[in-house]
Amino acid sequence: MDYPLAITISVGCCSVVYVLIRYYSSKRAKLIEVSETWWTPGTENSVSNDIRPYEIVFSEELVKDLKHRLKHTRSLTPPLKDVAWNYGTNTDALRKLLDYWADDYNFQERQKFINQYPHFKTNIQGLDIHFIRAKPNNAGEKRVLPLLILHGWPGSIMEFYKIIPLLTTPRPEHDFVFEVVTPSLPGFGFSDAAMIPGLSYIQMSVVLKNLMLRLGYDKFYIQGGDWGATIISAMSTLFPQHVMGMHSNMCSIMRNKALMKQALYEYLSSFLPWAKKTRQTDHQRRAFSHKSILLETGYFHIQATKPDTVGVGLNDSPAGLAAYLIEKFSTGTNYSYKSREDGGFLEKYTYDELIDNLMIYWASNSITTAMRIYAEMFTKENFLLGKLINSDVVKVPSACSQFPNEIMEQSPSLLRTRFVNLLRVTKMPRGGHFAAFEEPELLANDIWASIDEMEVWNKNHNKNL
Ligand SMILES: *[C@@H]1O[C@H](CO)[C@@H](O)[C@H](O)[C@H]1NC(C)=O
Repeated sequence: MDYPLAITISVGCCSVVYVLIRYYSSKRAKLIEVSETWWTPGTENSVSNDIRPYEIVFSEELVKDLKHRLKHTRSLTPPLKDVAWNYGTNTDALRKLLDYWADDYNFQERQKFINQYPHFKTNIQGLDIHFIRAKPNNAGEKRVLPLLILHGWPGSIMEFYKIIPLLTTPRPEHDFVFEVVTPSLPGFGFSDAAMIPGLSYIQMSVVLKNLMLRLGYDKFYIQGGDWGATIISAMSTLFPQHVMGMHSNMCSIMRNKALMKQALYEYLSSFLPWAKKTRQTDHQRRAFSHKSILLETGYFHIQATKPDTVGVGLNDSPAGLAAYLIEKFSTGTNYSYKSREDGGFLEKYTYDELIDNLMIYWASNSITTAMRIYAEMFTKENFLLGKLINSDVVKVPSACSQFPNEIMEQSPSLLRTRFVNLLRVTKMPRGGHFAAFEEPELLANDIWASIDEMEVWNKNHNKNL
């Protein structure tokens, strides 16, 4: 080959590669923009941007109807002998909770309890979003940092009632204190649901970012577990200019390669002595075994495909709703509670607390629209968008608390491939999936310590000025 021809070919090839790279990276950058959809078409010009105080009301009518339904629940099918919760919610345990709900749950008192923090609503992208805004007590000279905290399914704002005062009360060792904003996710509780398809965790991150902007916060910290964790990861990826840092109690990286690597490690470590070093706890190996995936994720498949079908029964029957949700508060808190007749949940929660959470779904008639969050993740557009977001890196300072009974756990080195500025990973001595609800002190302490580190990081990286 003569010299000029070689040069021509080389330059040609380089140009083609360069153009291709530019094309794909511009395509990627364009794709990862999420549009600011208006979720209630037709109301674009008729909503105000006001922030209105809101009160949760258990009306006499609602309570009367609910008690009637609870008293007229058809006879519950008795559980098989000695199966505890292995066939799903144990109806002997459920019976006790339903009786408590009908006879002992003090609706007026609980309504007052639920309204102890200031609630508001404001319209974002066509949706009235309900949220608690808890300002700090006696902030004094301390800097007030806005902190958005997000729940998941089947939780609600009720998960945060114990942790809110732990975050809004100043601590002598820190020169800042939190103002906590905790919304009902769109479609959950007293936040409106979309009228058109497509509102997944990704678009929720847009809505909730806009909520913080509406409240006057251009920069803020974010925290979450379950769907809340998924939403804050998306928000950190999409809006690093607004997010000062994220703290998650369910850090995860959902890339095929990472998951395969983890599965391979776990498989090898089960029989190769040299791989023992990578061996994780029994719990985590169990969480990833085929058997437990099949046993524990049936709900996911239903909700990701036919949420409206199962929703009819759950919206109509408080017994059905309780059975469906309470099971998650048993196994999600400690997997071994499955083999306890009573489901173990009274170890960690009271009937009142669990029923408060049920009341959020019941009073707002929102279980169907809440379950749609699963289905929306799998629309063609959102599935592709999710892939892009998950394969991008999170550059904002991040921290994870890992509770031993969480449904899954990944190593810090794996997490760092997505959360490139992961400042802290805290292994917790106890607790499970509903960390704020179950172990508010442990979680709050870790949030304080993590955000302290993030403040320093931001200062050093000029982000906080
Ligand atoms: C889960 O519950 C069992 C008893 O049922 C207990 O032995 C175990 O320590 C608990 N796990 C955690 C991490 O709390």
